[in-house]
Amino acid sequence: MTLNIVILAAGQGSRMKSDTPKVLHTIAAKPLLGHVLDTAAALQSDKTVVVYGHGGDQVRQALANNTLTWVEQVEQQGTGHAVLQTLPALDNHATALILYGDVPLLQAFTLQPLIACAQQGPALLSAVLADPQGYGRVVRNEEGLFARVVEQKDANEHERRINEVNTGVMAMPVAMLKKYLPLVTNNNAQGEYYLPDVLPMAVADGFAVQVVTVADAVETEGVNTRAQLAQLERAYQLRQIKALLEQGLGVADPARIDIRGSLTLGKNCFVDVNAVFEGDVVLGDNVTIEPNCVIRNSTIGSGSRICAMSHLEQASVGASATIGPFARLRPGTELADKTKIGNFVETKKAILGEGSKVNHLSYIGDAVLGSGVNVGAGTITCNYDGANKFQTTMGDNVFIGSNSTLVAPVTIETDGFVGAGSVVTKTVGQGELAIGRGKQRNISGWKRPEKNK
Ligand code: UD1
Ligand code: CA
Repeated sequence: MTLNIVILAAGQGSRMKSDTPKVLHTIAAKPLLGHVLDTAAALQSDKTVVVYGHGGDQVRQALANNTLTWVEQVEQQGTGHAVLQTLPALDNHATALILYGDVPLLQAFTLQPLIACAQQGPALLSAVLADPQGYGRVVRNEEGLFARVVEQKDANEHERRINEVNTGVMAMPVAMLKKYLPLVTNNNAQGEYYLPDVLPMAVADGFAVQVVTVADAVETEGVNTRAQLAQLERAYQLRQIKALLEQGLGVADPARIDIRGSLTLGKNCFVDVNAVFEGDVVLGDNVTIEPNCVIRNSTIGSGSRICAMSHLEQASVGASATIGPFARLRPGTELADKTKIGNFVETKKAILGEGSKVNHLSYIGDAVLGSGVNVGAGTITCNYDGANKFQTTMGDNVFIGSNSTLVAPVTIETDGFVGAGSVVTKTVGQGELAIGRGKQRNISGWKRPEKNK
């Protein structure tokens, strides 16, 4: 079977009140259309045709993908008119599946039965809704067989009471689309070419239209407004969290985790409230993420704990490490096992060996630290002279006293020791003590200033 998927994405989306084309609005940081393209890929579509209109160049650029066929619909004259534009691009012996670019939650396994039905004739995906207002209704004959779809604006009072609606998703042999679609007219309340109008033509020719009803109508909900976008974001997040709970993730509240990318888990991890995972995040076994952490494109080793209010980006954390609270790990941070990064510490392009600690109020950037290093509170690597970046290097078991300023490029060799409050500008040799600060002077008999009368 050859599958051609047509994605309708020409609608303007004016109710979003945004300059961004509707299908580029995101759910879990991915454009709506990107979700639909993922579904098309999961169905192993042989050809995917996207009908674009409003903001077309922007859409094409954002989803640059040279396996797609793009077809422009200059004027939006209805769903039938949109599909009509794609007919020359479709393969005569294929099965066509029509999807909407603004319906992001539809899953491949929901569509498989529809595609299977569509080998012989048309198949329509319907939904049963408590409030069918606005949708096209599925009208059946006395035997309960599909007769036609009637749009809300064309429906009589009796038809408006039908609560089985057309989701807009349908599948049928391309040959049928090519036969019937050019015959569809726009004699209706909206003066539009309705795609579902091909269905009664097939019925008249003796084909039965198979109707598959979606089990969870959230899958076929579209985005027209910001409110709907936010609702579907929540539904999508909950779907992801449920899958992770199945895999054994522990969470404090399934409604207060957001995953905008992929989260890969070891065993027995726990995520507390308000964690945001972005890009590809990998957790080992027994990892704990405390409240209010943002973790982007990072890897965290087994047994490590990310304490509250920490922000990690492109960082790799080894096993049995403790990060935060209030830590910021910037790109290029590579922490070995048993490391500790404490509160109000920022790291960038910092490589720390096993067991090294930066516990308080420090900036460690462009630095390579050996193992067993202890960096005291308030230490700053001065990596930038206003023009270029320079490296700080520390051997194993180095100790940096509090409030030290390490002016890069500089090396503190193995077992080197820097006295508190030092400004270090040249190499500290192996096992040496460096003290770079003003000598203390005590003045006796000194009088405190007195308040003016
Ligand atoms: C359509 C169906 C209706 C169904 C509803 C489900 C028709 C005539 N009606 O309603 O039975 O209940 O979907 O949501 O098919 N689009 C284009 N070009 C156009 C018109 C639409 O690309 O000229 C795209 C839109 O971007 C959108 C999709 O088609 O992704 C549906 O359009 P929309 O206007 O929301 O649906 P209706 O036609 O109102
Ligand atoms: Ca609509």
